[in-house]
Amino acid sequence: MIKRAVCPGSFDPVTRGHLDIIRRTAAVFGEVIVLVMANPEKNNAFSAQERAEMARIITADLPNVRIDIFQGLLADYVRERDIHVIVKGLRCSTDFEYEFPMAVSNRVLTPACDTMFFTSAAEYSHMSSTLVRQIAKLGGDFSSFVPPQIYETVKSRLSE
Ligand code: PNS
Repeated sequence: MIKRAVCPGSFDPVTRGHLDIIRRTAAVFGEVIVLVMANPEKNNAFSAQERAEMARIITADLPNVRIDIFQGLLADYVRERDIHVIVKGLRCSTDFEYEFPMAVSNRVLTPACDTMFFTSAAEYSHMSSTLVRQIAKLGGDFSSFVPPQIYETVKSRLSE
């Protein structure tokens, strides 16, 4: 019986789509760690602490979810903490092409840990943190993309 899972990501910022995956993961596993990480290919708009705080706010009603920050290899994080499942969301075929080599590589690095995927809900399949940042910076209404508790924070920070 697998009790713990980790949901890793940049969460820059966290979207309604991320929250849906976190909620569904929390319905299946006893404990879920939302892991705020650095993607080496991306320059984050929000600091790790800001991203973690937003994730904390929107998951406050989920008692089996906690937030952590890690700068390093995901494979090391899960091995050191004896975690056996990584959960990611899949929106479309480009997500699969991006996620598949990472999932295989993580398994090469830490064979005891598998990656599982939830397909995104239809109403969230178009959204991404990248689009949120773009719409926010250009003054558009992105309220349907992020949970309401963090909308003003994201808006004010990205319009600076
Ligand atoms: O939300 P993102 O940007 O798609 O998340 C990607 C992330 C942060 C999960 C991925 O880049 C990652 O795992 N970074 C940590 C460094 C690492 O382990 N890289 C090797 C992956 S095989």
